[in-house]
Amino acid sequence: MSTDRMKKVCIVGASGKLGRYMVQQSLERGYEVVGVCRERSVSKLAEFDGRMTIVPGPTDDPEVIRRAVAGCDGVLTVLVPWGVRQYSSGTAQAVLDHARPGARLVFSCGWHITRDGKDRYSRLFTLGVRLASVLGKLVRAVEIDDQVEACRRVFASDTRWTVVRGSSLEEGDSQGLPVWSRHVGDPVLASDLTRRVDFALFMVEALTDDTLVQEAPAIVGCRAPSALAHAGDREDRKDRN
Ligand SMILES: NC(=O)c1ccc[n+]([C@@H]2O[C@H](COP(=O)([O-])OP(=O)(O)OC[C@H]3O[C@@H](n4cnc5c(N)ncnc54)[C@H](OP(=O)(O)O)[C@@H]3O)[C@@H](O)[C@H]2O)c1
Repeated sequence: MSTDRMKKVCIVGASGKLGRYMVQQSLERGYEVVGVCRERSVSKLAEFDGRMTIVPGPTDDPEVIRRAVAGCDGVLTVLVPWGVRQYSSGTAQAVLDHARPGARLVFSCGWHITRDGKDRYSRLFTLGVRLASVLGKLVRAVEIDDQVEACRRVFASDTRWTVVRGSSLEEGDSQGLPVWSRHVGDPVLASDLTRRVDFALFMVEALTDDTLVQEAPAIVGCRAPSALAHAGDREDRKDRN
């Protein structure tokens, strides 16, 4: 889909940090923006008063999502593993069921999600995810398995989806569009750090990038040492040819 056909976008999970960056960047592109967030979080969007429409409600409520995505050309969904009531998979399912056919659907998650099982994780990373899964469930705060299930459903759908897999995040000014690879473990990703604002940038850019349709890019900041080293490699190869 070309940029001029992307006119109205819905941001599901608009009140979080990633969501607010995406609202700002979508408004800057001139898109009409509809945001979905929990009722109690509406005030977190006060800075956008009069510039966006808010549909308050749980993001896994099919009726809330149906109203919010009506007429949208793109839907940006923040998939979070909070709670132990299948919030992530419910949210993904509602978006998959109600977005208009042909709409661009972009979902966020972390590197721990694998599409084809070919990602290579460090032992420390795997241990961290396992611990977070077990402890999170134990205290009934986090359900990482459900974020996995959410992505499984997205991967299995025949919609125009992209699942953006974020590295560790930091705050700070934008450094530019992150670089990406199909697989964690690729040397370009080794630095494992992206500015949150640039994670948002990648999500918003993906709306109009057809090369990312049905891809699950794992991203890293474009100024991260591993990304810079990789850019150097590419330049060297070009010079040699
Ligand atoms: N944090 C990281 O280091 C990291 C690393 C890699 C990838 N990611 C991915 O980045 C995305 C954004 O994550 P983030 O950590 O940066 O958080 P974030 O942008 O601050 O977003 C958190 C979201 O979770 C919602 N939320 C919080 N508690 C909730 C609850 N109990 N029930 C339902 N919703 C709840 C928030 O809604 P309210 O505004 O209503 O509270 C908000 O929409 C996620 O897809 C995550 O998997 C994060």
